[in-house]
Amino acid sequence: MTGISGGGLALMLTLCAGSVPLWLHAEEARRFQLAVPEDLAASGLFDYLLPRFSLKTQVQVTVVVPGTPAEAALSRQPVQAGLAVFADPGGTWHLAVLTADHVGAVRFADWLTSDVGLRTVLAYAPEGIPLFAAPKPPEEDKSAAPLAGDGGLGQALSLRHCGRCHVVSEANRMQAIGSTPSFASLRGFDDWEERFSAFFVLKPHGAFTRIDEVTEPFDATRPPAIVPVEMTLEELDHILAYVAALAPADLGQPLELK
Ligand code: HEC
Repeated sequence: MTGISGGGLALMLTLCAGSVPLWLHAEEARRFQLAVPEDLAASGLFDYLLPRFSLKTQVQVTVVVPGTPAEAALSRQPVQAGLAVFADPGGTWHLAVLTADHVGAVRFADWLTSDVGLRTVLAYAPEGIPLFAAPKPPEEDKSAAPLAGDGGLGQALSLRHCGRCHVVSEANRMQAIGSTPSFASLRGFDDWEERFSAFFVLKPHGAFTRIDEVTEPFDATRPPAIVPVEMTLEELDHILAYVAALAPADLGQPLELK
């Protein structure tokens, strides 16, 4: 009799399905995809940079167009936690590590933000002309200001549009609904900015919120059951600027929404 008994086979299948072999982790840590917008890719910078990085670290990087799955990405907009890495006449380029625990991608971010990495970028001068400069310090670089809104206006708008449910500030602590999370507690989320930017599609707001030129008009045959929130994206920018400046509530433990 040869072969594996039924029980043994089942055990093996379970083991294979349940865990990725270690060697694969090691292998994956040594290669990753980097999303680079076409105009930046066309500069040739990465053809110059990546072989130098790979030689040093044994990490292989494949440049892909934005929109393709990637572990890291370069963009003009500072993505949350994006690092300013270098600049060209169009502004500052930011690197975001999208898979935060990817060893190779983190290594690349470390390298690119190191003196050696920056010097390599600055040394790239096809036909003797350097194309890139050091990133400007954030306070001088207007394009790095993530929020364009006016926080003062934002507070007034928050009180008007959101304050009947959410505690926005001391001003409406007594008028809001106790069971609705306060703005300060929502500010405590790492991804608060995404949540606020998209609040109108997050429960429960969709049913009663309309944003000019973004959401569909309310269905005339099924008007919202409560007084609607109707506002513009510009107003939302002001609200974001207000929330950005709020001190996150220290809840002791993470707030959990259903
Ligand atoms: C009619 C009441 C009401 C109004 C008005 C309202 N909200 Fe909310 N909001 C809620 C409730 C209730 C929740 C909690 C939902 C939950 O627990 O899942 C919530 C949750 C949120 C969240 C977190 C959502 C998530 O899933 O992470 C954000 C962000 C938010 N509100 C922003 C706003 C902003 C900005 C405004 C005003 C422009 C606003 N809300 C107006 C009732 C309201």
